[in-house]
Amino acid sequence: MSSVLIGGVDTNQAQLAYALRLFAEHPEQWDRLTRDPSLVPAAVDEVLRFEPIAPFMARLVAEELTVHDVVFPAGTVLFACALTANHDLEVLEEPNRFDISADRGDAKLLTFGAGLHFCPGAALARAELEEALGFLAERVTTFELAGPPRYDTPSGVYGLLELPLRFETATVGARP
Ligand code: HEM
Repeated sequence: MSSVLIGGVDTNQAQLAYALRLFAEHPEQWDRLTRDPSLVPAAVDEVLRFEPIAPFMARLVAEELTVHDVVFPAGTVLFACALTANHDLEVLEEPNRFDISADRGDAKLLTFGAGLHFCPGAALARAELEEALGFLAERVTTFELAGPPRYDTPSGVYGLLELPLRFETATVGARP
């Protein structure tokens, strides 16, 4: 139970903070989202792809394994990096461009892990992020960084301690 609570709270709040930071750094992407709310699910996917807040997955090698001619003896602790995999130049076009309307094809997102330990909260995380970004996109017309973000020390989840933002709001439904 505690792993569900810990895994479900810090992760989502950190991923939402990263989303806001990314949109503050890419105002043209925020503008696109505010004008077309149908892009909310794609925006969530792009945020999750671009900067996963839990980029490393640990695995213990059970039997000797060879990957690209590198031998990993049984007992090796491996860290697979979702951030790097999500930016694989061999799989995606322009992976280092943050673009909520890019066609990413059927490239697999590794942000929630893979296999037996795939994050059981993935659907809930997506739903919460969609709810939050959809809510804000209807009300916040522009926002920008009002100072440098302060990052927490990495502890599995890469959170933010401070995210100063300056923003302007509009009445819901008032935008052309
Ligand atoms: C943006 C939000 C989230 C991200 C990026 C995230 C990411 C991850 C990752 C990378 C793993 C390890 C997967 C692996 O080793 O293959 C994981 C596991 C886990 N996550 Fe999430 N997670 C998120 C939200 C949530 C939520 C909302 C919950 C619960 C309500 C949750 C509960 C868990 C639990 C219990 C595990 C351990 C699963 C296992 O070891 O079998 N996570 N998550």
